[in-house]
Amino acid sequence: MKHKIFAANWKMYKTPQQTQEFFKKFLSYDLKGDIFFFPPALCLSSALDETKNSNIQIGIQNIYTKAEGAFTGENSARTAQEMGCSTVLVGHSERRTLFHESEILSEKLQYAQSLGLKVVFCVGETLEQRENNQTEKILTEQLQSGLRKAQAQNLIVAYEPVWAIGTGKTATSQQAEEAHRFISQWLEKNNFQNVPILYGGSVKPENAPELISQPHISGFLVGGASLDPESFKKICSV
Ligand code: PGA
Repeated sequence: MKHKIFAANWKMYKTPQQTQEFFKKFLSYDLKGDIFFFPPALCLSSALDETKNSNIQIGIQNIYTKAEGAFTGENSARTAQEMGCSTVLVGHSERRTLFHESEILSEKLQYAQSLGLKVVFCVGETLEQRENNQTEKILTEQLQSGLRKAQAQNLIVAYEPVWAIGTGKTATSQQAEEAHRFISQWLEKNNFQNVPILYGGSVKPENAPELISQPHISGFLVGGASLDPESFKKICSV
C-alpha cells in the first residue's frame, strides 16, 4: 500500500486563535498517514502547542540561509527547529514570483538539511510555459538548480503547476501523473532514490481520490482546502 503524505500550506492565513480553534477540531478526527502543517511563522507556537501530543508535524514556510545575524525580518531555521519544527518549505511559486527567489533556494535547502530538517521542495511551470511545451524543460531547470546541493534523505518534492495554484483549475490526473513520472525519473537518474512527490494546486476533497490513485502521486500539498478542518480531513482520508 502507498505511504501517503498530506501537507497543509496555510500561507498568510489564520491568527494564533484561529490556529487553536482549527486544531481543537482537527485533532478530534482519527487520521492515518504523515500529516504536515505549514502555518504562518507567527502562528507556529500555537500550532506546536496544540499538536504536541499528536503525530502531526509542524513546518515553517520560509527560512533564511543562516542561523542568526543582521537579517531583519528573516526566520532562522535553527530557531524554528528549537521550537519543534521538523520541516521547511522551499521553492514555493509564491516565493519564486513575489519574492524573486531562485539562486538562494539551493542554499536554503542545503542549510535546512544540514540541520537535519526535512524539506518540501516545490517545482512547477506557468500556464505560458505549459502552452509552449516547456513543462519538462522548466521542471528540469528547477530540479537541477534547487537540488544541486541536496541529499535524498529528508527530501520531499512537490509538483505544483503555477496555473493550478489558488485558481480552482486542478491539473487533470493524467497531466499530474505525466509530470510526476517525469520528476520521478529525473530524481532516480540523479541519485535521489525513494523521494516522495506530492501534487499541489487546487486539491479538494472532490478531486483528491482520483489524483491519489495515480502511481507516481504520493500525497498532496494543499493551500485553500487545508484552512477548513473538515475539508482537509476529507483529503487526508483518501
Ligand atoms: P491551493 O494552493 O491548494 O490553494 O491551490 C496550493 C499551494 O500553494 O501550495
